[in-house]
Amino acid sequence: MNIAIVGCGAIAAVHAESIFSMKGYRLSAFADIDYKKAADFANRYHGKAYNTYEEMIQNEQIDVLHICTPHYLHVPMAIYALEHGLHVFAEKPPVISYEQLAQLEDLDQLLPGKKLGFCFQNRYNPSVILVKKLLESGDTGAILGGRGIVTWNRSEEYYTESSWRGKLVTEGGGALINQSIHTLDLLTCLLGSPVSIESHTANYHLKDIIEVEDTMEAFIRFENNRTASFYATTAYPVNPPPLIEIICENMTIRIEELDVTYYYKDGRIEKPQIESKAGLGKSYWGCGHQDCIEDFYQSILSGRPFAQDLNGVKNTIHLLLCAYESARTGREIRIPKEVH
Ligand SMILES: NC(=O)c1ccc[n+]([C@@H]2O[C@H](COP(=O)([O-])OP(=O)(O)OC[C@H]3O[C@@H](n4cnc5c(N)ncnc54)[C@H](O)[C@@H]3O)[C@@H](O)[C@H]2O)c1
Repeated sequence: MNIAIVGCGAIAAVHAESIFSMKGYRLSAFADIDYKKAADFANRYHGKAYNTYEEMIQNEQIDVLHICTPHYLHVPMAIYALEHGLHVFAEKPPVISYEQLAQLEDLDQLLPGKKLGFCFQNRYNPSVILVKKLLESGDTGAILGGRGIVTWNRSEEYYTESSWRGKLVTEGGGALINQSIHTLDLLTCLLGSPVSIESHTANYHLKDIIEVEDTMEAFIRFENNRTASFYATTAYPVNPPPLIEIICENMTIRIEELDVTYYYKDGRIEKPQIESKAGLGKSYWGCGHQDCIEDFYQSILSGRPFAQDLNGVKNTIHLLLCAYESARTGREIRIPKEVH
């Protein structure tokens, strides 16, 4: 398969390196409005460089387009590529607004043959897979709820080095839509379908520098009377692993990136053996990109569904959009019924 990347910035390097180390795929073209960035990738991976992705799609035989551009561009670029017959693998977030979600839903009806997959690589962490299986086994007793805590640091330089960051119109939000969306996504994977969310946002440490929130806290209701507390900030001094805790009748489970701990009711504490895996790029990007990309490609080759298609990430999309709506209006927002 011929693969192309649009947006040759920080995360594109992880996509390119992952694809380069997989057998049977050719990195054939790269596009970036900053042509030098596309040329650097093209030199490194022996592909062609373009200034625009439209030109790249017109001139190359591409099977899959990876979208690694700023948030507001994911949907228009995905639509253009799908309409031109490509499969699309897009970085998170899948959308930044209800309008963009509606555009993708319309398209889903029109282009059944082409796949659109989203990069939620942390679903592939061995720790998450292990805990999901354990929860599904019923051995934990009833699942009561949980919490997701992300305390990270994003400095002024992080926002000035890429000017789309920190602006509502191009980033769509801050600590939630950009940094802690993976933790929100994992809560939906482990706790099930969300029913409502109530949230608050704040900007504590980069006032006058960013328009978006650096902190978001939320209370989420899930089906089966489960609830979760959520807290995300980018105003912390360092970047420790996010904490996900699941409270069950018989035990409490903690996931900290690849580390899992079981706290049994009788006081026993156990750490299951987890396969260690090295990630590419920044430690907080995790180690799942390659597995996620490979799974997407295999789904194309075999014709089977890809779990992180539009439907597979809808709970997360709705929670995300409803969290911002709640923060704006001060109301608890119900998640649209179609999802659960
Ligand atoms: N999955 C993860 O854990 C993870 C981690 C980091 C970033 N991301 C996501 O990846 C995306 C990119 O983030 P980044 O940190 O690499 O940003 P970045 O600013 O480093 O890179 C974005 C690139 O897109 C290019 N670009 C902008 N507009 C363009 C256009 N119209 N056509 C072609 N190229 C264009 C820019 O020149 C830049 O090179 C974001 O959606 C971000 O949320 C995901």
